[in-house]
Amino acid sequence: MRTIAIVNQKGGCGKTTTTVNLAGALEADGHRVLVVDLDPQAHATLALGVDPDELDENLYEVLAEPGGEAQLAAVLVNVSERMDLAPSSIVLSALEQKLAAERQDARTLRVKTALEGLGAAYDFVLIDCPPNVGLLTFNALRAAQEVIIPLEASFFAIDGVQKLLETIGLLSDRLDNDVEVRILPTLYDGRTRYARQTLADIRELFKDLCFDTVIRMNVKLREAARNGVPISRYAPSANGARDYAAVAIEVEASPPRQADPLLADDELPELREVMVRYADTRAGDVRIAGDFNGWVPDKGVRSVIEAENGERVWTKILHLPPGTYQYRYVVDGEWREDPVNEKTAPSPTGRVNSVLVVR
Ligand SMILES: Nc1ncnc2c1ncn2[C@@H]1O[C@H](COP(=O)(O)OP(=O)(O)OP(=O)(O)O)[C@@H](O)[C@H]1O
Ligand SMILES: [Mg+2]
Repeated sequence: MRTIAIVNQKGGCGKTTTTVNLAGALEADGHRVLVVDLDPQAHATLALGVDPDELDENLYEVLAEPGGEAQLAAVLVNVSERMDLAPSSIVLSALEQKLAAERQDARTLRVKTALEGLGAAYDFVLIDCPPNVGLLTFNALRAAQEVIIPLEASFFAIDGVQKLLETIGLLSDRLDNDVEVRILPTLYDGRTRYARQTLADIRELFKDLCFDTVIRMNVKLREAARNGVPISRYAPSANGARDYAAVAIEVEASPPRQADPLLADDELPELREVMVRYADTRAGDVRIAGDFNGWVPDKGVRSVIEAENGERVWTKILHLPPGTYQYRYVVDGEWREDPVNEKTAPSPTGRVNSVLVVR
């Protein structure tokens, strides 16, 4: 079970949208997912089609009283085939005061204890946090092994960076929980030069902490929330669905991998050098990701970039044993199939991958 907290103290940067739609994308890939709505605004609860006012019980029952953690399973709402919700309610805003007298340690471990009680019922737990770093966010950070910080790519002011770095610093210093932090650029409008520059700045600043995927502006995301379903079900071919499916692929590819057991020299497969080329007039950054590198863009790949007839050409050099491989290009954060390769295969996410045969 991987527990991921979606955190940023800035309001309106796409936390809830990321929680609900990443959950939808992971579910579409066959995973069992639990969404924990830790925001008293209950936006994730609403976006999953559940009216908090119509429920008798919610996370308050689980978090307010010592021992309430065991109640978690009882308050869960099943929202679709492989997705459950731990619903929020406005009463969660009273929790901070209610628990004020308790020891810091006890009151920030409530969510962690509650989740541990569920055993291995889920592959992923996604926790939506409120736009502040109070008791509820602390609970999420202590329960999670991973953190995703959605970062609005359109209005990226320097104080935003500082606040964000504070959050990251706070995670490692003040909590005895070694979380892996990643930044997800959201609300990206590629038509404006300002947004493109901002995205470049974010990448420059955060480098490997950044997802390769960028979440573009897409009104269908807003509509899906209003209709109470993740976009994977509301509009599976919309950009918003594609973007969150790409985030899901990155998340799925990211757990620490087991090293291959050491092979003796004479058992090492013979590697072939393979080159694929991608030409584009506008792209700034082109990487390749496939089953050969765990879908981690450009991992283990050498790139040569040349200018040719007004286009830039990326040559990707791979060393692979004979076999059949699937891959996609990541062009400025957008996952694309190879435009000059007719061989494709359907991927589990409902899109197609390009196919490479090495003889
Ligand atoms: N990629 C997107 N394209 C278009 N609209 C979006 C996108 N992401 C989020 N929105 C919309 O922007 C608004 C804010 O997004 P969201 O609620 O996910 O942010 P949040 O960080 O959870 O906010 P809060 O801090 O209040 O909890 C919502 O109306 C949402 O539908
Ligand atoms: Mg929210």
